[in-house]
Amino acid sequence: MSEAVAVVAKRAAVDEVPDYDDHVVRLFIIASVFWALVGMTMGVLIAAQMVWPQLNVEPWFTFGRLRPVHTSGVVFAFGGNAVIGTSLYCVQRTCRARLPGRFAAEFVFWGYQLFIVLAALGYVMGVTQSREYAEPEWLTDLWLAIVWLTYLGLFIGTLLKRREAHIYVANWYYLAFIVAVTVLHVVNNLAVPVAWNEADSVSLFSGVQDAMTQWWYGHNAVGFFLTAGFLGIMYYYLPKQADAPIWSYRLSIISFWSLVFMYMWAGPHHLHYTSLPDWVQTLGMTFTIMLWMPSWASALNGFMTASGRWDRLRTDPVLRFMIVAVVFYAVATFEGPFMGVRTVNGLSHYTEWTISHVHSGALGWNGFIVFGAIYYLVPRIWGREAMHSRAALEWHFWLGLTGIMLYVTAMWGAGVMQGLMWRAYTSLGFLQYSFLDTVIAAKPYYAMRLLGGVLYLAGAGVMAWNVWRTIQEPRPAPAPAPVPAE
Ligand code: HEM
Ligand code: HEM
Repeated sequence: MSEAVAVVAKRAAVDEVPDYDDHVVRLFIIASVFWALVGMTMGVLIAAQMVWPQLNVEPWFTFGRLRPVHTSGVVFAFGGNAVIGTSLYCVQRTCRARLPGRFAAEFVFWGYQLFIVLAALGYVMGVTQSREYAEPEWLTDLWLAIVWLTYLGLFIGTLLKRREAHIYVANWYYLAFIVAVTVLHVVNNLAVPVAWNEADSVSLFSGVQDAMTQWWYGHNAVGFFLTAGFLGIMYYYLPKQADAPIWSYRLSIISFWSLVFMYMWAGPHHLHYTSLPDWVQTLGMTFTIMLWMPSWASALNGFMTASGRWDRLRTDPVLRFMIVAVVFYAVATFEGPFMGVRTVNGLSHYTEWTISHVHSGALGWNGFIVFGAIYYLVPRIWGREAMHSRAALEWHFWLGLTGIMLYVTAMWGAGVMQGLMWRAYTSLGFLQYSFLDTVIAAKPYYAMRLLGGVLYLAGAGVMAWNVWRTIQEPRPAPAPAPVPAE
């Protein structure tokens, strides 16, 4: 073989597109859509329970038991399935390598769904270890650890098989998500079971150390689950949809390392004015303020990637979903550092302001970036030309956006009102309002939030219908083979 032929053969081998494993990506996307409906229905239900308390009937149907079904349902089931599915699609393309094991991939999928079902069943039956965002008991935790380590192996295995020298930045974010969640999950759940045949356990931590461990976990669940994982989505799917390279690759790396370093220290802002030592609160507050920088660096990178293509926002609803997601990422990460300042937190803590902040991040950033990625992926992984209905995309977008605006403004108004009412004194130095006064005053805001939630859920319903119809459509006929020239 001549040298030229050898070079061509080598190039062909490099250029050859591997047979990617998209079956498991399809499963994760279907699961994400399904759990979106379940988790958000639960959100609407508990929002209704706050408007009409008489809806709290059986013990298993009370706010206290259904709330974690909502939080785990949207964060781990809807969000988690989306991040895992999109990561497995992205890592294969950017490494030009197939996932190392079909069985392992399916195990991660079914194992993760089993974890979700076990967790939710436990909550409604009252089985909980009462650690926020980590409510499942020890047996379910052990199962998740096994599933998660398999996912880690699958991801790293693909990276090791890669046929590209460089590891694209989205994979860094996804990897940080997987590794950090492993560490957080294991440490926060260190516990001794009461007995081997009982669900209950006792945490290894106690007192203020326990509180700090829980909020080190809780805050980093936000930082690595709801942020790093979803930034992985943004860094791959936004440039793809905008058809442009990421604006500044260097900035994406700088913001990666600063985000990873700073998030780990900011947990104490959840424990301001508690028995946590003052210096720890101040340390947490300092890192919280600093977190503004890497967050806005990523937001800026997202916006600038689409710059020069702003006209497409009128015609491309998928890109619009993604850009609005980045807007809400910027909003939530501006508000967060502000709320982390001790004196501001004195007003916002315990009020609906926190719930407003959570949902501008959750509905605006997490929800919209996932919707964008789902609309990008579905036609591609099912081999269709486009989504079934463009009008439905528009409906989803406007229902979702209206829902967010209602939800966030209602809870912001309620939160600031509660904070101010709780600290109002009469001229004689007595509290001006009873707690009940503030509950009654918040009622109209709760009704407004409920309406916002119903609209957001309706948007998700439209998406589920559109995804279903797209999958049902026949595959387009393959293009006819070119006629060889005479
Ligand atoms: C720079 C980024 C951010 C900072 C510094 C930050 C800071 C804060 C602060 C100070 C609180 C209130 C803590 C309290 O009073 O108890 C909070 C609550 C929360 N934030 Fe953020 N935030 C950021 C971004 C986000 C994003 C993007 C999300 C995504 C959804 C998010 C989700 C949450 C959640 C779920 C809570 C409630 C935790 C709880 O009490 O259960 N945050 N955040
Ligand atoms: C239909 C849309 C939704 C509705 C109506 C809704 C409603 C609610 C309600 C009523 C609460 C309890 C608030 C309280 O305790 O005062 C809540 C908490 C929460 N929701 Fe949602 N939610 C929705 C969507 C989402 C989504 C998509 C996510 C995440 C991706 C999310 C994440 C959370 C979190 C993390 C909390 C706990 C906040 C905290 O403890 O500070 N929600 N939601």
